[in-house]
Amino acid sequence: MTATHRLLRGPLFSCLDDPGEENTPLADTTLYREDGAIWIVDGHIHAVDDHAALAARVPADTEHVDYRGKLMMPGFIDSHVHYVQLDIMASYGRELLDWLNDYTFPAECRFAERAHAETAAERFLDEMLRAGTTTAQVFCSSHPVSVDSFFTAARRRQLRMIAGKVLMDRHAPAELTDDTLGGVRDSERLIADWHGRDRLAYTLTPRFAPTSTSTQLDAVGGVLRNAPDLYLQTHLSENRGEIAWVSELFPQSRDYLGVYEDHDLVGPRSTFAHGIHLDDGQRRRLAQQGANIAFCPTSNLFLGSGLMDRLACREAGVATSLASDVGGGTSLSGFGTLQGAYQVGALLGQPLTGWQGFYRLTLGNARALHLADKIGSLQPGYEADIVVLDPDATPLLSRRLSQTSTLAERLFALMMLGDDRTVAATWTNGQRVHNRD
Ligand code: GUN
Ligand code: ZN
Repeated sequence: MTATHRLLRGPLFSCLDDPGEENTPLADTTLYREDGAIWIVDGHIHAVDDHAALAARVPADTEHVDYRGKLMMPGFIDSHVHYVQLDIMASYGRELLDWLNDYTFPAECRFAERAHAETAAERFLDEMLRAGTTTAQVFCSSHPVSVDSFFTAARRRQLRMIAGKVLMDRHAPAELTDDTLGGVRDSERLIADWHGRDRLAYTLTPRFAPTSTSTQLDAVGGVLRNAPDLYLQTHLSENRGEIAWVSELFPQSRDYLGVYEDHDLVGPRSTFAHGIHLDDGQRRRLAQQGANIAFCPTSNLFLGSGLMDRLACREAGVATSLASDVGGGTSLSGFGTLQGAYQVGALLGQPLTGWQGFYRLTLGNARALHLADKIGSLQPGYEADIVVLDPDATPLLSRRLSQTSTLAERLFALMMLGDDRTVAATWTNGQRVHNRD
């Protein structure tokens, strides 16, 4: 079969490394081309350069796509999201533990039904691509069929996705509760079917310490020890009531993080959602294991969970990723997440720059998920997952951006005012999978 060549022409921006926290990026950490182009061969980026340089080199049968006046970036990444909670976003008036019982668990019960899971997976992926998000680490429900449905839909669209079956063997409705070891066996079957297939990967998913017995957590730790290329995702220190409950349930462990350490669940491929109420010692313990904290600002604000201290994490050397945490989060859009992150940062005296924001949403998240050799940057050899942003998406955005004179100002205003309307097109694996118009 002959290769398919495409040349996407237009302004482009990508991070090559962490630009730092200042409003001037560190040297050689960012790439910007005003009249740039991305040369895609099949599913991969072949070259990135000025348009004139690449136009002279591409073969005659290349498909040319004109994105002049737009802004191309690597596809956005969401390090923690629950696809099974789309239907309970914006449910009123509860903090975490009541929110789980009153809204979340009833919604997740519906995923026992294959037809519901299949439809929800398709609608969720439609929404992700509309928002420019091309990769996510996803919580399914405790039903294996919710995972099969999700991976089937993601595979058909050739997406790079990480997902797993929720494990819970206590403190949840009977319809959602695993047999302690049966839930782990179900996970092993799903791993055999899906992990490493095309662009898919499996993440072990004990929901959080209160809903698993020590026996179940031990069994999960055992699976992880035997297959270190698997991911693990769970929740940590999100809410004060939750933390007090964990200390009652696991009195032998030194603290909440200690529960996960005691069951061998903390490693370089572990993502801990929230991690708000941690001290420096706990942050350093996470850093030593190379784990990452998924910062979920819109969820933390919506559920009143607290303000996550991003710079304290940086100081302690622990990686932070950026996540929507829908349905606790109020936006599936990476822009919504960045706006929340800025607001939380503003309340802590650590305002997020546009450079750092877009870095986190792309290469930073790819690094946290050990995918930075494949996605998150516009470089030769990377998979062609690309979002095309429209600075003229709305009259207001257009007007505001016309008042900017530097790229720093432009990226920041775009970050604060962007939303799903700003996403003109989304490409994954070298193919256009969303077109706004
Ligand atoms: N802690 C345990 N489960 C959940 C969940 O579904 N969402 C959030 N935000 N926190 C959790
Ligand atoms: Zn969550």
